[in-house]
Amino acid sequence: MLSLQSPRVLRLADAASVATAAITRIAARVSERPNCVLGLATGRTPLAVYDGLAQCVADGRLSFAGVETFNLDEYLDLPAGHPSSFRAYMAERFFRRVDIDPAKTHVPSGEGRPGDGDRYEAAIRSAGGIDLQMLGIGQNGHIGFNEPGTSFDSRTHVVTLTQATRDANTADFPNGERPPPRALTMGIATILEAREIILLATGTHKADALARAFGASPDTSCPAAALRFHPRVTVICDEEAAPKGSVLANHR
Ligand code: PGA
Repeated sequence: MLSLQSPRVLRLADAASVATAAITRIAARVSERPNCVLGLATGRTPLAVYDGLAQCVADGRLSFAGVETFNLDEYLDLPAGHPSSFRAYMAERFFRRVDIDPAKTHVPSGEGRPGDGDRYEAAIRSAGGIDLQMLGIGQNGHIGFNEPGTSFDSRTHVVTLTQATRDANTADFPNGERPPPRALTMGIATILEAREIILLATGTHKADALARAFGASPDTSCPAAALRFHPRVTVICDEEAAPKGSVLANHR
């Protein structure tokens, strides 16, 4: 029987402080265990985290040479090498800027072949599972591309993206192009198997999602609420994202 846990909360002044806290946590885990397995996220929130980690490597303070990574999700139905794919995002923002072995960087396949989800799960298992998973949160409460209504038992699977998510991500696509309607995402149960999770949220537009995730009764209408069943979650948010009057607003 799963029991409700209380997340640790780092409520910080601004987005820059959120990035610094995430960089510190990831760098600590990589330093402690140079061959650790990281779960990575795309989106706007982690950009400063990747900049900071790349700087640590450039300064000779950190190495990703032994690290293996698994990203949360990828669009389906994009032409190979599309600049808005999450594989392209990760290459440009992080993988090419650090000393990681490209063979150890995993992003779900966007090719839509039968069995791709199962193969991704098997690859995570054979790497020994994810030590530290970084997550963002969608305005609708999604984690990865697990949209509202997704079962907390879900494994890596194909999803149909909501209009809201496609609208939110349109800015990442070249002029006039829309994000594709489908993606392959780690499931919620897959995410919950990570040994440690950090959830990053910045800006007033994330406050409602955090309020629903960490409000009274977790249910599938807010996928991030599943994190309340995980024993080792740290919410790292700024003042703007911390919902007023919620459990998160009481932490500093
Ligand atoms: P964002 O996306 O970091 O671009 O806000 C987060 C998410 O949708 O998970």
